[in-house]
Amino acid sequence: MKMHAPDFLKMKGLKRIAMLTAYTCPVARCLETAGIPVILVGDSVGMVEMGFDSTRDVTVEHMEYHIGAVRRGAPNTHIIGDLPYDTDKTPALALACAKRLLAAGADSVKLEGPKTDVISYLVQNGISVVGHTGLTPQTAKNFLKVGRTADDARRIVDEAFLIQNAGAFMLILEHIPSDLAHTVTSSLDIITIGIGAGPDCDGQVLVINDALGLGDYWPPFSKQYAHLSKSIVDVANRFLSEVESQQFPNNTA
Ligand code: KIV
Repeated sequence: MKMHAPDFLKMKGLKRIAMLTAYTCPVARCLETAGIPVILVGDSVGMVEMGFDSTRDVTVEHMEYHIGAVRRGAPNTHIIGDLPYDTDKTPALALACAKRLLAAGADSVKLEGPKTDVISYLVQNGISVVGHTGLTPQTAKNFLKVGRTADDARRIVDEAFLIQNAGAFMLILEHIPSDLAHTVTSSLDIITIGIGAGPDCDGQVLVINDALGLGDYWPPFSKQYAHLSKSIVDVANRFLSEVESQQFPNNTA
């Protein structure tokens, strides 16, 4: 069932929310069939599907394309669309881009960092916003865990409150120590969703390619529930050998 932002607010403390990313129609269809309540069309698409080295190469046009595909596959699931790098540099630009993501099929938008003026402007204009702190890939210099020093932990707690107070209904906590995620989750009124942030968030998100074992690198905090890269190589090998040996196609079919 499709959830609006106020429904998510009611879920705080009730149960764990399972979120997965999706970028394509058939995968989104599978996630909706499985009952995943919220899908993130993340700008991780740039790295895991498009072969870029950074999420900074992702454009609004890319996001519109992928959000549209996911919406066609999951018509009844809440879809969060990522605002690409620099499209949130002013409130007016962020609103224009957020409207494009919503027109493509998103229910809410996500942006990285404590950009309180942008978040509050979007919320005032009727857009549901998801915040993101901890490791923020659009501006990070590396993908190491953050919030390990007292100062950095304090910064993340402060950012979490700024994002909540600006009007976000949900907060992604990426690659921070578990005890820090616990502190943030128990202090905030809004839902926290962790990735590499331990078990104490209100929910968990995984990049679908990591969960499927699709690709050649998976972060240590992720889990591979399948090994699709290996399956694809196996299928391609079998097809190659059957075509070369004229076993396929079988003319009796
Ligand atoms: O882009 C993305 O997939 C994300 C998740 C890693 C939270 O932001």
